[in-house]
Amino acid sequence: MENFTFHNPTRILFGRGQIAALAQEIPATARVLLLAGGGSIKANGVYAQVKQALGSRLTFDFFGVEANPDYDTLLRAVELCRRERIDWVLPVGGGSVLDGAKFVAAAVPYAGDPWEILTTHAAKVQTALPLGAVLTLPATGSEANSFAVISRRALKEKLAFGSPHTFPRFSILDPETTYSLPARQIANGIGDAFCHVMEQYMTYPANAAIQDRFAEGVLRTLIEIAPKSLAEPTDYDTRANFVWAATCALNGWLGVGVPQDWATHMIGHELTALHGIDHARTLAIVLPSLLQVQRTAKRAKLLQYAERVWDLRTGTDEARIDAVIAKTRSFYESLGIKTHLSDYGVTIDTAAEVARRLQARGAVKLGERGEITPAKVEEILRAAA
Ligand code: NZQ
Ligand code: ZN
Repeated sequence: MENFTFHNPTRILFGRGQIAALAQEIPATARVLLLAGGGSIKANGVYAQVKQALGSRLTFDFFGVEANPDYDTLLRAVELCRRERIDWVLPVGGGSVLDGAKFVAAAVPYAGDPWEILTTHAAKVQTALPLGAVLTLPATGSEANSFAVISRRALKEKLAFGSPHTFPRFSILDPETTYSLPARQIANGIGDAFCHVMEQYMTYPANAAIQDRFAEGVLRTLIEIAPKSLAEPTDYDTRANFVWAATCALNGWLGVGVPQDWATHMIGHELTALHGIDHARTLAIVLPSLLQVQRTAKRAKLLQYAERVWDLRTGTDEARIDAVIAKTRSFYESLGIKTHLSDYGVTIDTAAEVARRLQARGAVKLGERGEITPAKVEEILRAAA
């Protein structure tokens, strides 16, 4: 295990009725930006709970943050914040709304062109408005990390940034707020969280027994709860375990002191930017194919994963690796998520295009050993046709 410093300042308020805690979490004198998506929070009663908890605080609503939050939309929220001297940002929604809020919080006090935050200057984010979140979609882990992924449709870009200043101060996770999620978003959430664990686990052995066992526990939990999460949307305990699994998958805990991959995500973000495919679905396309192409480099961990997560203990090493890659693919398919580019009407030409885009932004050494070059990216996507 490598040396590490671990600090996650986000306070989690978990469980039924926790939205009421907003009344204590946000100062009574705050001028609040309530950031939201397309309106799901009005339909499911979350908005009403939030407004009640905020009481008489001066609140400015900003609806319309898209799935894959758009830069130009968020700049309008930045303008509103500056104009109204807003001093608290409260995203209420899924990962897109939370990510959008992190960008807004960082951009409001930023002196330069905010696009720099996503391209060259994330390190120059010296401060951000305080933000606290109400999460309604378990998936991204955005509720307990400092990262945000922002799309700029006008330029066909999708870029990430992270800063110590953009951790949520608090996040409210009430599993009941997820009851209204359509099956597609539940599937996406499970698939995204699964891949987050894999990015931090499926590398090479690092003598990190705790991280490995935690990662395997989260993976097994996701596999176990997946069918019931889809079939019984209002089963509290199933949703509670799902919400917590998704948070644990990307709150930083699993990744301390261990090598990390993230190539599936880097390639997936390009597929969303180019073709508008849901984030989790891009991961389902890339991950099985990446495991296949990287099977030699990941050999020891693939065998460990086969045994400890999927209980595959018989047959030759090669046969168990084949079987566990097939299990991974069929897990995504069992969620109703297709795993080939052709399922989304995307042709093989995209392989070279994604490789070229990554090359152009200098992302030429992806993966835990930096050996996923643009040529490898192309090979992975060709194998996902
Ligand atoms: O916009 P509304 O009306 O709220 O509807 C949303 C949206 O259409 C809906 N929804 C959310 N909660 C609901 C609900 N519908 C009914 N009931 C509820 N309780 O779900 C749709 C999708 O929402 P979105 O926020 O886009 O989904 P998700 O949470 O999967 O977020 C995806 C975004 O997060 C980024 C992705 O790239 C993508 O842009 N990621 C962020 C990460 C991070 N911050 O650490 C890491 C991830 O790897 C990921 O890249
Ligand atoms: Zn993800």
